[in-house]
Amino acid sequence: MIRILVLHGPNLNMLGLREQSVYGSQSLQDIEGELREWAQVEGVELESRQSNAEAELVSWIQEARGRFDALVINPAAYTHTSIALRDAILASDLPAVEVHMSNIHQREEFRHRSYVAGVALGQISGFGSLSYMLGVKAALAHIRALRSTAQ
Ligand code: DQA
Repeated sequence: MIRILVLHGPNLNMLGLREQSVYGSQSLQDIEGELREWAQVEGVELESRQSNAEAELVSWIQEARGRFDALVINPAAYTHTSIALRDAILASDLPAVEVHMSNIHQREEFRHRSYVAGVALGQISGFGSLSYMLGVKAALAHIRALRSTAQ
């Protein structure tokens, strides 16, 4: 069974309420529901968690080492500030997909830099809630490819 951990950073618990013109009207629960349905169809074990606290996210990433096969993470504002999250991803030794609902490269300059991008498999940015679906699909395809070459 392939296990994927999906992490949501600060303020993503406010999806559906916050800046609807940027992030749309779906709540985090709506998005998680779609991911769960997809995971069931694919036969993937998917766990999804949100935190507003950098330390909690760091601990969850550390604990994921050896327990999950991939990480899909929207680090939200910590994308642009957190070397701790970057180091935790490296320490987890897990392939990570960075996800953003908005296109961070079209927004304010301070959002253009991502500390996570350099340690991620890749970045998906700008597709609204679909970014998450693309993120988990990319993670799954990556793991399956790894497993098929390992045989
Ligand atoms: C975000 C983009 C970040 O710049 C912002 O701080 C967020 C959400 C996105 O999903 O588009 O909170 O990660």
